[in-house]
Amino acid sequence: MKLKGKLLLFGALVLASAFGINKAISQEAGQAISEEDLALYKTGINPGEVFAQEVGGKLFNTPMGKSNKSCASCHSEEKLKKAVGTYPKYNEKLNAVISLQQRIQMCQKLNQGVENPFPLKSEENTALLTYLKYIASGEKINVDTSSNPVVKAYYDYGKYVFELKRGKRNLSCQACHEYAAGLVLRMQKLNPLGHEFNGIKGTTAAAHWPGYRMTQSKVVTIEQRFQQCMSQASMKILPLGSKEMVALELYVTSLANGATIEAPGLVR
Ligand code: HEC
Ligand code: HEC
Repeated sequence: MKLKGKLLLFGALVLASAFGINKAISQEAGQAISEEDLALYKTGINPGEVFAQEVGGKLFNTPMGKSNKSCASCHSEEKLKKAVGTYPKYNEKLNAVISLQQRIQMCQKLNQGVENPFPLKSEENTALLTYLKYIASGEKINVDTSSNPVVKAYYDYGKYVFELKRGKRNLSCQACHEYAAGLVLRMQKLNPLGHEFNGIKGTTAAAHWPGYRMTQSKVVTIEQRFQQCMSQASMKILPLGSKEMVALELYVTSLANGATIEAPGLVR
């Protein structure tokens, strides 16, 4: 039995290196956790929650723009938290699917009268996003993938991007997160991103992002996490908020439909 297990593992490793996955994993595994963070985790504190409350919560309550209104002056948290798990979501005005980060920018521009909304990669936009996801903890992920042709097209496109082999090593998201799922290489497990794939349990990733990445000592959004995977797999990096990225976010989020939001996660 033992030998058989070893042979299976050997087979899996050969398969993984054939995919060119090995090198990408070792790059991930090489990152260290800072001393300060280690001390915080030992006390049971998720620094991402501190960031959500202290940076995001503060911005949510700060009046901004020509209107001099805060997010809180228009939105009750009780109502708003019900919407969080429905993003990325179709927006009628734009006739497009938008991410929650883009919805925040829209409100800044149209409802607060802010001339230059916080960029998607800014700490401020990430903080507001993290705060919304944090107050929505306990609610369910529930994105729509088919109620109109635009939504359906985004979903199909996201699935296409997920399955598309790209870059020097000819890898797709699917190669690692589905076909190679379950393999453990240098302490990093390859997980399906939804509930399960072929009987292998997944992480329902969208429910715990944005996450506090211990190896980077900061909160990272799910689109930034996608970019880090793209970089490690030598794929061309898609821009945050691009149609491709939002479609990919919609697809990956749909895999977690029904999962309970628990954010920000504490991730490696
Ligand atoms: C002047 C009032 C006003 C302010 C200020 C405001 N919003 Fe909004 N917000 C709205 C309106 C109106 C909508 C559209 C409601 C709808 O689509 O049902 C909206 C929609 C939203 C949605 C989408 C809700 C859904 O059901 O899909 C989110 C999320 C949101 N706002 C977050 C914010 C954040 C974060 C801020 C601060 C940066 C903010 N809003 C500031 C009025 C405001
Ligand atoms: C070379 C293999 C590889 C490829 C290709 C790859 N990833 Fe990853 N990915 C990983 C590893 C390793 C992790 C870290 C382990 C983990 O958190 O599950 C990870 C983590 C993630 C996570 C966080 C999972 C969680 O539960 O927190 C997401 C989301 C993700 N990847 C999305 C993608 C997307 C989208 C693509 C395609 C653009 C992609 N990955 C391509 C290896 C890969």
